[in-house]
Amino acid sequence: MSSGAIDDLGFESRTFPPSTEFVATTHVADDSLYREGTANPDAYWERHARELVTWSTPWHTVCEWNLPFAKWFVGGELNVSFNCLDRHVLAGRGDRVAFYWEGEPGDTRTVTYKELLDETQKFANALLSLGVQKGDRVNIYLPMIPEAAVAMLACTRIGAAHSVVFGGFSAQALADRINDATAKVLITADGGWRRGEVFPLKPQADVALQDTPSIEHVVVVKRGGNDVAMQSGRDHWYHDLIAAANPMCPAEPMDAEQLLFLLYTSGTTGKPKGIMHTTGGYLTHVATTFKYVFDHQPDRDIFWCTADVGWVTGHSYIVYGPLANGATQVMYEGVPNFPANDRVWSLIEKYKVTIFYTAPTAIRTYMKWGTQEPQKHDLSSLRLLGSVGEPINPEAWMWYHEHIGHERCPIVDTWWQTETGGMMISPLPGATVTKPGSATRPLPGIGAEVVDESGTAITRGGGYLTLTHPWPGMLRGIWGDPKRYQETYWSRFPGRYFAGDGAKLDEDGYLWLLGRVDDVMNVSGHRISTTEVESALVSHPSVAEAAVVGANDATTGQAIIAYVTLRGGLTVDEHVLREHVAKEIGAIAKPKTVYFTPDLPKTRSGKIMRRLLRDVAEGRNLGDTTTLADASVVTELQRRASEHPAED
Ligand code: PRX
Repeated sequence: MSSGAIDDLGFESRTFPPSTEFVATTHVADDSLYREGTANPDAYWERHARELVTWSTPWHTVCEWNLPFAKWFVGGELNVSFNCLDRHVLAGRGDRVAFYWEGEPGDTRTVTYKELLDETQKFANALLSLGVQKGDRVNIYLPMIPEAAVAMLACTRIGAAHSVVFGGFSAQALADRINDATAKVLITADGGWRRGEVFPLKPQADVALQDTPSIEHVVVVKRGGNDVAMQSGRDHWYHDLIAAANPMCPAEPMDAEQLLFLLYTSGTTGKPKGIMHTTGGYLTHVATTFKYVFDHQPDRDIFWCTADVGWVTGHSYIVYGPLANGATQVMYEGVPNFPANDRVWSLIEKYKVTIFYTAPTAIRTYMKWGTQEPQKHDLSSLRLLGSVGEPINPEAWMWYHEHIGHERCPIVDTWWQTETGGMMISPLPGATVTKPGSATRPLPGIGAEVVDESGTAITRGGGYLTLTHPWPGMLRGIWGDPKRYQETYWSRFPGRYFAGDGAKLDEDGYLWLLGRVDDVMNVSGHRISTTEVESALVSHPSVAEAAVVGANDATTGQAIIAYVTLRGGLTVDEHVLREHVAKEIGAIAKPKTVYFTPDLPKTRSGKIMRRLLRDVAEGRNLGDTTTLADASVVTELQRRASEHPAED
């Protein structure tokens, strides 16, 4: 069915209600929360702000909305580190484990809430001694070690805003982000472990620091053991600062709208945007969604989110959401295939993980590696699975359901963005009947609608995903650029937040995410989403992963070019895949050419970079490749394209 915006080539009809066993202990088994959230979103969020967050001063206004600028819990005061640490310790739960941390080489640390609080207080005092004041920005460039959480929490304790830069980013990317934020202090490590080797961080930071005039001090955590240069007066070892620090640092109450962090997101074009998040609304949003979407119960669950703290998922669902709920988590430093392809499953078995949250890109990689890897391990502790970051292809969903969840665990496909702060569209696992590949419905208290070109809401078919009213975790702006904030998110459809994603609605009102609208292809006048063609390809039993792009074509406007990665050991002919797509979703969506490739170009957070594949398909020089994780993947595809030009 076509609404003119994006075609709906829909084909998935399987449904999965939660099991009676799951429902028996769930927080939410019926529609009551949805009804409450729809009846009065402000009252819904206010109730949760009161129940899940501890405030030192109550707010006088729940939400002040001057489109497109929102303030939440106006007049309220709270401290985020108090909410994540002190209150659990004060309630007698200091011995509860916050993190079971495992380094890539296999070394381990167990960190309790009491220990995390002690270390955070000391490090907050260390930051104060380096001259960090409320309102200052602090940059963090660390591997996945507990000190990353300590550094973030210490900033929140004293009201400094952190800006975490993923440890895989280059010196230039780090320098740009430090300079945009004019950060005063950089917290880094000598290095971290990745793929069996130490990757240097401080040496990268040193390159960045040649061009970052705002940085006054650098704190270095010892982790990799690699040699590093320390500039006297500027650079300090973390362990020396901790050893010298006063152990008591009272949590200072912050205004609800105090800047909590900046997180840079590059989007598809242009200079990275410093997304601004503030204190009270953000914490309420992530604490509430963590509790309900993961159906979390602190005495029962061991939660593992595989994201890096350098991404918003790590901020919201490793640090703030879980710690506010007093969760016990697994934190892992390294890659999923060191020393072997079963590392993830071995960690689930070892720590008896009950809730596992990962990305479609990882799931498709595990599919490529084969079912024998998870079969080596006892995964019976798992009770719930989650997905985030890209549309999950129905077959990847089914693989996750069968081979990891053993048909027992609900899957929550959670749609959200760096900008939204927390989850927006997702099943509630005890209340929602799921469909493979659908993020289902907006969460309680969230308003989402699909609109057509003219901005009119539609009830069936494909269009543009918009958010209809403010939510507590929403971005408060782009650092230093309020005009860009307005233009990027609020100008295309007046009065609505435009997420940049396409989506379709089915006959039950379920939402199916269709990827970025910039990637939508135009074939003979049909607006076809990359997601639907990719999902059709992945539904072939030989295919693990696929990316499609529209390349200029004299006859059809654009022609669909597919890049396909096969499951371990399997082969299939190009024409078989073309016919498979035709059979699944229609001849119009049949790729003109299929290239087989062992890997696809991805961003460092694992999203497929279709823009680069378009450059390859159209024989252009590559555009900006700075966010590409492994440049050799595209070079190889370019080489092959030149040997085998797309034929008519
Ligand atoms: O395109 C959507 C996709 O990821 C974008 C947001 O990316 P980022 O800011 O890096 O945050 C990722 C972690 C929240 C969205 O605009 N996306 C994220 N989750 C999903 C998704 N697409 C489909 N389904 C999802 N569950």
